[in-house]
Amino acid sequence: MKKFIDDLMKKMTVEEKIGQLNLIAPGGFCNTGPEVTKNSSEKIRAGQVGGMFGFFGIANVKPWQEIAVKESRLGIPLLFGLDVIHGHQTVFPIPLALSCTWDMELIEKSAKLAAIEATADGLNWVFSPMVDICRDPRWGRIAEGAGEDPYLGALISAAMVRGYQGKDLSHPDTVLACVKHFALYGAAEAGREYNTVDMSRIRMHETYFPPYKAAIDAGVATVMSSFNEVDGIPATGSKWLLTDLLRDDWGFKGLVVTDYTAINEMTAHGTGDLKANSAQALNAGTDMDMVGEGFLNTLKTSLEEGAVTIDVIDTACRRILEAKHALGLFDDPFRYCDEKKTAEKILCKEHRAFGRELSAKSCVLLKNDKQELPLKKSGTIAVVGPMADDRKNMPGTWAIGGDWQKCVTLLEGIRANAGDAKILYAKGANITNSKDWAERIAIFGNNRIDIDPRDPAEMIKEAVEMAKQADVIVAAIGEAQEMSGESASRSDIGIPPDQRPLLEALIKTGKPLVLVIFAGRPLTLTWEHEHAQAMLMAWFGGTEAGDGIADALFGAHNPSGKITATFPRNVGQVPIYYNHKNTGRPYLAAGGFDDKFKSRYLDVENEPFYPFGHGLSYTTFEYSAVKLSSTEMSGNDTLTASVTLTNTGKYAGEEVVQLYISDPVASVARAVKDLKGYQKVMLKPGEKREVAFTITTEELKFYNTALEHVWEPGEFIIYIGTNSAEVKSAKVTWHTVAEAARRRKNA
Ligand code: NOJ
Repeated sequence: MKKFIDDLMKKMTVEEKIGQLNLIAPGGFCNTGPEVTKNSSEKIRAGQVGGMFGFFGIANVKPWQEIAVKESRLGIPLLFGLDVIHGHQTVFPIPLALSCTWDMELIEKSAKLAAIEATADGLNWVFSPMVDICRDPRWGRIAEGAGEDPYLGALISAAMVRGYQGKDLSHPDTVLACVKHFALYGAAEAGREYNTVDMSRIRMHETYFPPYKAAIDAGVATVMSSFNEVDGIPATGSKWLLTDLLRDDWGFKGLVVTDYTAINEMTAHGTGDLKANSAQALNAGTDMDMVGEGFLNTLKTSLEEGAVTIDVIDTACRRILEAKHALGLFDDPFRYCDEKKTAEKILCKEHRAFGRELSAKSCVLLKNDKQELPLKKSGTIAVVGPMADDRKNMPGTWAIGGDWQKCVTLLEGIRANAGDAKILYAKGANITNSKDWAERIAIFGNNRIDIDPRDPAEMIKEAVEMAKQADVIVAAIGEAQEMSGESASRSDIGIPPDQRPLLEALIKTGKPLVLVIFAGRPLTLTWEHEHAQAMLMAWFGGTEAGDGIADALFGAHNPSGKITATFPRNVGQVPIYYNHKNTGRPYLAAGGFDDKFKSRYLDVENEPFYPFGHGLSYTTFEYSAVKLSSTEMSGNDTLTASVTLTNTGKYAGEEVVQLYISDPVASVARAVKDLKGYQKVMLKPGEKREVAFTITTEELKFYNTALEHVWEPGEFIIYIGTNSAEVKSAKVTWHTVAEAARRRKNA
């Protein structure tokens, strides 16, 4: 490869090298940013373009590639990217939902099938995985990530990269993955989109960096820089971030692309004009400029003025050519344009069936006190609510390749899987009655909220009359899909208020009420929890949403999803996350409200509504006490911590057994506990299994003030349980080898 690229670069002019650094979006399909590129074909012909994105399909891709290879001077092929985020034309559940499966095999396979469909549609680059840790559900892009935990986030990040890239990028079914948004984008202040991020380096390393690092270790080919600032400098222009850390410390060898017009946006951040910012971004380690054309229009002048060197331009150009070479584009620029594959793979039976499995497995059973679920396949079921027969919102945010018209609605899923049960349906309410709301969220240019013109009272009346004839009510409520995603922050994260009068009226019927909740974020659900008998979090399940949710509702699949982001009681608790610090004045509920001068609110508990890791099953599980292989450990010994798990209920079911560790005394303040492992265990009714975890000093490590990843001897608490709050614990003392030897001698 080196010789090939050396030879090619010898033939390239400076302008052609700079041209490779230009990533354009011609628009006209689906615009994912504030502006699009003009005169795309002229630019490709003139050698001013390295890649394109924002569209798919061989008929759309091929003509551009033909211009590049047949009409530009050197015939260098283009990269074709797209936001393939959760499946492609077969849309899978949103990433936050997928993370609730805690199932790396499924998640990896979801990326693999997405890559097969993407490559069948002309693409060779996906802008995924999005691995930004988020502890603030107001931020709409929490939908696109894996929630709040760095350990789980890192596993998912690596699984996605493996799924997209496989073992060999030159295989026709694999694509370049792009880990994003580097870095810390999920920590936008107040959950407001694109807002300032400011945090300590310890927190960066401890909590926010692990998923990016995991992608690098898994061999991700590309990285996207984030819009926000990191330590005071816009990420796209941060040499510390993009070179010192990413390349020098972490060993990343691939290409860094900016986010959409991020170089141009540095001006508003306050770092100067486009020319200065383009030079800063290139010198920092950015290789490719998305849409902004700062590189295209200013780098030549900066080179003449000495603000950048030809070596830096060459390095960036080489990285882009290397990516193209790895994909095999120089051998065959049209290798992703196989129409037979399109016909065979897009929305094929296998992909749709897998989508159904994922939709079922990402559902989280939040409440089921009275065992109203699973639903019986007999009697009468009243299906109501604005999401019940809603097709447009099933894909969820960032489903550019997906056609909502191909989605299965919940009502269709219930009807097809209800056996002998009689199904009645009424809409009952709109997602919102506000046209203004509906227009404001139409980010991708299409309105996803159909407002029924009838009087809301009339709709409720119809639903209530119908519900009275039923044995159980299934109410499908929630957010529209574009109420989460990019540029979709909310300051109130409840169910949109126009749905409440319907629920109040349904409750008055006295019939059992099962809520199926659609959303792209954790919501505040205290009122709903108080009034409904059962609640199933369905997120957005994609093409096969309806059938998958029906599988969970009727028990064909026993829910095993566990939430990966904390559900707060109200917005005032946000940011809220399980791995918080203790503070100097921790508040223990046992102290009661007489306990003044403690870290707490006067008007709400400190505890979340649903803790990280929560999720019920139709069966019940009992945990024994935690057993340790030893309570005194030395240096690099291996500890085994185990529990006996028993299925004490009536159904076969899977449980995610979670391991947390805390380090109460250390040189820096540590979190109250950190997830360090888990196992997903399937048990038949009455079955018992010992679930054992192996712990070494690796699991005890943290970043100290010198940012070294170390463990310090002392006492540790090992917790095992069904979620981050309901755990059993045991203590262990872990000595250095020398201290352990001294003790043995003295004993
Ligand atoms: C902006 C988004 O932040 C990013 O995630 C996406 O990949 C690009 N636009 C391209 O659509």
